[in-house]
Amino acid sequence: MEWLDAATDDFDAYVAQRRGEQIRWGVPSTLFWYVSGEHYLGTLVVRQRLTPELAEAGGHVGYHVVRPWRRQGHATRMLAAGLAECSRLGLDRVLLTCDADNEPSRRVIRANGGVPDGRMHGEDRFWITLEAARS
Ligand SMILES: CC(C)(COP(=O)(O)OP(=O)(O)OC[C@H]1O[C@@H](n2cnc3c(N)ncnc32)[C@H](O)[C@@H]1OP(=O)(O)O)[C@@H](O)C(=O)NCCC(=O)NCCS
Repeated sequence: MEWLDAATDDFDAYVAQRRGEQIRWGVPSTLFWYVSGEHYLGTLVVRQRLTPELAEAGGHVGYHVVRPWRRQGHATRMLAAGLAECSRLGLDRVLLTCDADNEPSRRVIRANGGVPDGRMHGEDRFWITLEAARS
């Protein structure tokens, strides 16, 4: 994803791109920016409800970690934090989608309790039932 490289190459362009996405989704959403000191690690977004489009691809939560910080468990912990935010917002279950060949993201989702729900438009779908809803 070329726009991800902007996060390290041209941070201002990256911020502008993310702001544009907020408008595109058309639902209230919260962005969490992850940093370590002066270093940008990644972003997690919680979309508070699904549109018909997000129900097909995108889901409630999205995330990325920039290359130098990958494979250190950040995305797995970021999603766990995102699910806590979803719970706080009152969501009972959360939809995640990822490209069928995105094994790292699949692992992140499965590590957080994602239950597969088939494939749509080349994206694997997963639902996560939140703790508060289970008890
Ligand atoms: C997907 C992504 C967020 C993972 O971030 P990360 O911080 O590296 O993830 P983690 O360190 O938490 O690793 C999660 C699992 O994936 C595995 N993994 C990470 N990168 C991998 C790779 N390139 N190849 C194989 N496995 C990989 C880890 O070993 C770990 O597996 P485990 O739980 O079995 O030990 C990151 O690769 C990314 O930003 N990709 C581009 C954007 C994207 O795809 N976002 C998700 C959209 S749905």
